[in-house]
Amino acid sequence: MEAVFPLDKFPELITERLILRQISNDDVAGFLKLRSNPEVMRYIPRPLSKTEQEIIDFFNVGEELYEKGEMINFAIALKQTNKFIGSIGFYRTKWHANRTEVGYILDPDHKGNGYVHEALKEMIRFAFHEIGFHSIEAIIDPRNTPSINVIERAGFVKEGHLKESDFWNGEYIDCLIYSLINKN
Ligand SMILES: CC(C)(COP(=O)(O)OP(=O)(O)OC[C@H]1O[C@@H](n2cnc3c(N)ncnc32)[C@H](O)[C@@H]1OP(=O)(O)O)[C@@H](O)C(=O)NCCC(=O)NCCS
Repeated sequence: MEAVFPLDKFPELITERLILRQISNDDVAGFLKLRSNPEVMRYIPRPLSKTEQEIIDFFNVGEELYEKGEMINFAIALKQTNKFIGSIGFYRTKWHANRTEVGYILDPDHKGNGYVHEALKEMIRFAFHEIGFHSIEAIIDPRNTPSINVIERAGFVKEGHLKESDFWNGEYIDCLIYSLINKN
């Protein structure tokens, strides 16, 4: 298995209603809207973004990590309009185990439509059948019911509940570990 993504160019993945495509500077405002919203970021232990420059820096780091084979982050856009509504990606990839970690974030204006479910299904196909990953992990705060629903709906299995294993915003927080193993 490669130590970088075995891809000629950044892929574009198409589903019934969505395009998963490379994030671009046109998405900065849309991404800032999510990363600056305390409700959206409630269970993501990362600082709130305040400026467009922080998002541009974040995108640049993402590109470097993509080149190094560590992460691949897609914009989720509506197929009909190409409007940015969120992102989904693979992070902290461990090539020696062909394992990666999935994460996603959705504009609350578009929640409740199954868009992340649809994007995640396609990402699983891409991971197992195009990249060749053996397993995908998801780390979720036990209070994050919408994310638990998304991951369980995609067939991920709960493998562990780590008690007070992280520290964020002045409190110790639990983490659920989910995974999906490629059985084919
Ligand atoms: C986690 C998050 C992505 C879930 O968003 P979501 O809109 O609930 O997820 P989906 O887009 O898959 O939509 C699923 C919902 O749409 C409904 N739905 C409607 N049409 C659907 C369809 N065609 N297919 C599937 N579900 C559909 C489902 O019933 C479900 O609602 P329910 O959970 O009330 O039953 C979103 O809450 C979010 O961005 N949270 C903040 C960031 C975050 O915490 N990320 C995860 C960190 S671990």
